[in-house]
Amino acid sequence: MKTKITEMFGIEHPIIQGGMHFVGFAELAAAVSNAGGLGLITGLTQRTPELLANEIARCRAMTDKPFGVNLTFLPTVSSPDYPGYIRAIIDGGVKAVETAGNNPQKWMPMLHEAGIKVIHKCTSVRHALKAESIGCDAVSVDGFECGGHPGEDDVPNFILLPRAAESLKIPFVASGGMADGRSLVAALALGAEGMNMGTRFIATKEAPVHENVKLAIVAATELDTRLVMRPLRNTERVLRNAATDRLLAKEAALGANLKFEDIIDEVAGVYPRIMQKGEMEAGVWSCGMVAGLIHDVPSVKELIDRIMREADTIILQRLAGMAKS
Ligand SMILES: Cc1cc2nc3c(=O)[nH]c(=O)nc-3n(C[C@H](O)[C@H](O)[C@H](O)COP(=O)(O)O)c2cc1C
Repeated sequence: MKTKITEMFGIEHPIIQGGMHFVGFAELAAAVSNAGGLGLITGLTQRTPELLANEIARCRAMTDKPFGVNLTFLPTVSSPDYPGYIRAIIDGGVKAVETAGNNPQKWMPMLHEAGIKVIHKCTSVRHALKAESIGCDAVSVDGFECGGHPGEDDVPNFILLPRAAESLKIPFVASGGMADGRSLVAALALGAEGMNMGTRFIATKEAPVHENVKLAIVAATELDTRLVMRPLRNTERVLRNAATDRLLAKEAALGANLKFEDIIDEVAGVYPRIMQKGEMEAGVWSCGMVAGLIHDVPSVKELIDRIMREADTIILQRLAGMAKS
């Protein structure tokens, strides 16, 4: 399938694997890229720029296809060494960067001078237009359904994607709630040039996470996610578990007085315990409503091939048949 996104990133299929903390290691990024999509290493999961450089080298040894790095700009006071991370990306010869979080404007000249294409993840048309105005090459439009941080506007993709199509000149991919060939065709119909998936890629053979995480996603339905940290205006969609219930009870009890320190046990430093040790109640972890559409743990190649087969069948048979009659 040829779209503006496949052309931009030099990939075979218009499918991107979104950055995911403690999931987006070289193994997953390489598997997605080898299967014809765009795999992304999650930059900040690597504690230092040197470790990121090492992860990029590991990924390069596993694939000769294009892959990228996600760089999440956190709203924290003590900022990670972003110049160091960007240097590691440039020196590692990476040609695609997914930025997320705060505005990446400051880093755009460095990235563009190195010939890197930048796709910024946004949860609103307003932020997507801003990304376009600062020179981002594409955006990933993340609807309210998404796992992780859906922003504070709560606009689902059935509205957000056509709104993005009305407003943007740069190409965009649909993100949030994407799982299969139906998602891809729907995303294209709504104006996107491809799709980005997070949660779906965790439930694959190559995702380097504990088996318990994959089983939890397969077991979950679309009713099993919750929004946490809303009072802090840092809303995150997570899978419901004991830690989620504890956190929500604190939010209800403290109301507007809630501070980050009150919920630190549920959120800080929990990802390695969950993703690597499989301690599923250790804290809250991002998961999309799309869990309701995930019923198996295929290899990444099986998943991507299946998506493309399904998409072709929908377009060439179901939709073409309807259009003819
Ligand atoms: C476990 C997990 C961790 C994530 N970590 C990050 C992250 O570190 N940076 C980021 O930009 N997005 C992160 N995301 C968001 C994904 O990149 C993607 O935008 C989102 O999962 C799309 O929604 P979906 O899960 O419905 O496919 C994370 C998502 C999940 C499920």
